[in-house]
Amino acid sequence: MKYIAIFASGNGSNAENIANYFGSSNSIRVGAILCNNSNAYVVERAKNMGIPYFVFSKEQLNETGEVSAYLHRNNISFIVLAGFLWLLPQDITAKYDHRILNIHPSLLPKYGGKGMYGNKVHQAVIDAGDVVSGITIHRVNEYYDDGDIVCQKMCTVEPTDTAESLASKVHALEYEWYPKVIENEVTNYTI
Ligand code: GAR
Repeated sequence: MKYIAIFASGNGSNAENIANYFGSSNSIRVGAILCNNSNAYVVERAKNMGIPYFVFSKEQLNETGEVSAYLHRNNISFIVLAGFLWLLPQDITAKYDHRILNIHPSLLPKYGGKGMYGNKVHQAVIDAGDVVSGITIHRVNEYYDDGDIVCQKMCTVEPTDTAESLASKVHALEYEWYPKVIENEVTNYTI
């Protein structure tokens, strides 16, 4: 069994979707959910699903090594970011080189970078008058939205779309594709 950890900062609908997808797998399991905000709904989701979780501070992530130690203790061999707002420190990106994925709700390199999150991204797409948007699943390094792109999927942007309606189209793509891409990456990576 390979155990993956999901890092999330907010609602956690992708985290729950991924955990459900692997619930019936006999080779991959979500072994932990990690969150930087104790009020985030993803923490409730982790409790409801009975998945071990760890709420951590910036210091525990970047200075004391507690997040890294938690991953080690829980036998985590792959990391998945799903709406996680902080950068991972270099010790984690180096240790999990080629074993960290992120999902971004636009077609990178457009609308990426620090502060580009959730509906801010969708509003920027609409303001620019783009007629397509979508998702990007990419490997993670120590910069924002910068690693190798593994998969992109598109949806149309209609003149009537709002940030909210575009977000639901993008979420539908995320729910469909992120678990499959994770499964493929985890299965093909030999540790
Ligand atoms: C998702 O749309 C994800 O692509 C986005 O945050 C949302 C989290 O939703 N991530 C980013 O914007 C990263 N820059 P969720 O908490 O319901 O899964």
